[in-house]
Amino acid sequence: MTATDLYARAQAVLRLNDTGEFTKPSPRQYPHQWNWDSAFIALGLAHFDLPRALVEIRSLLRAQWRDGMVPHIIYPNGASDYFPPPDFWQTENLPHAGNVPSSGLTQPPILSTIVRMIYKNSEFGVRNSESRILISELRTPNSEFPQLLAWHRWLHTARDVDGTGLPCLIHPWESGMDNSPLWADALDRITLRDLPPFKRRDTIHVATDERPLATDYERFVHLIDLGRRLRWEPRALLDQMPFLVQDVLFCAILHRADEDLRALAIELGEDTREIDDWLARTRAVFNARFWDDARGLYLDYDVRAQSPIRVNANATFAPLFAGLASKEQAARLVAEHFDNPREYAPAADSKYRLPSVAKNERGYSPRRYWCGPVWIQMNWIIAHGLRRYGYHAQADALVRDSLALVAQSGFREYFDPRDGSGCGATDFSWSAALTLDMLSY
Ligand code: GLC
Repeated sequence: MTATDLYARAQAVLRLNDTGEFTKPSPRQYPHQWNWDSAFIALGLAHFDLPRALVEIRSLLRAQWRDGMVPHIIYPNGASDYFPPPDFWQTENLPHAGNVPSSGLTQPPILSTIVRMIYKNSEFGVRNSESRILISELRTPNSEFPQLLAWHRWLHTARDVDGTGLPCLIHPWESGMDNSPLWADALDRITLRDLPPFKRRDTIHVATDERPLATDYERFVHLIDLGRRLRWEPRALLDQMPFLVQDVLFCAILHRADEDLRALAIELGEDTREIDDWLARTRAVFNARFWDDARGLYLDYDVRAQSPIRVNANATFAPLFAGLASKEQAARLVAEHFDNPREYAPAADSKYRLPSVAKNERGYSPRRYWCGPVWIQMNWIIAHGLRRYGYHAQADALVRDSLALVAQSGFREYFDPRDGSGCGATDFSWSAALTLDMLSY
């Protein structure tokens, strides 16, 4: 398939999933608005329809809670056949919630980075001169900037349990990597009590062996039930949720987003001191918290168990995206892990980069959702990180493999690293949006 064909097909997917106000992650499996999906989608849209990209960003921020949180699922059009439906979250009428029906959780805060990328077109590939419009929009009162600032502030304070400003996640869904083996031990420790009745819908459109296990799902629902009993009150959640982790991917994305928000603040003539302080604090604690020097990789931290989560998932490369690794750390990540055929590099047991979990991990399962398949947005994040440290050959390999996967199997949600076959949802928006971006490099 030619690049022109691929481009046209990617555009068609975004058009197919466009509701006018927001873009569904996929036509059937995910019929509502998701937080980081909308951000990636906006980047894709900006390549051919900048005004529509701005609508995507605004529709996401319109759902912001009064306390600053930007929720992970937003239901502007009410319920569908998706579980959980909006009322399951019990977020309506909370004093700190927003005006649009939503979940009570958040998701990786990549939006400020995307806004800056759209703006800073020359460096990042969006070569649309109209993107100047974006910055003039940002300059208007009540624009996106204060909303982004309020969300970052909420993450650094309302989710800060130990004074470091590293946000805690209260549910695996907040990581964006729902059933990653990263969460297995923390979920195992949870005793299910009074599980509310529920009916899974995620296996209607997708094969059961490509989705989370029933035991995972029960725990996901149990944690929602606890959150809603606590009325999604941040202090109570930090005190009482049995699942409480600091995640490398989430914290790295936030740090990178802080850098990008700072750059936007400078463009706008806004004070940067608060953002400078977040950046300095994260830089001071990140490596001490997450780096495992014996293994030469970054590990998540289980706050409740007070111990590192000793699982090697591809989120370990995310600190490169944020510039948080030293040169030496980056070199170890690449040589010992990225280029290692027992873990992530192609070999007899895998053809495509980058498995979401190292192939030699106990929980590795090459078709099951976040347990091993290749995800396009992880490839995109990690490719940017590798470039930042000068690993251009590795970054190019990630982009090449990503484009080969979508050309071969279509814009699927995730891909089997062994043969590149597509898994999960079809016509998946961020696979299409990031293809548009990668085609422009
Ligand atoms: C799944 C993914 C999450 C994504 C959502 C919508 O929950 O794990 O990262 O945002 O689907 O696509």
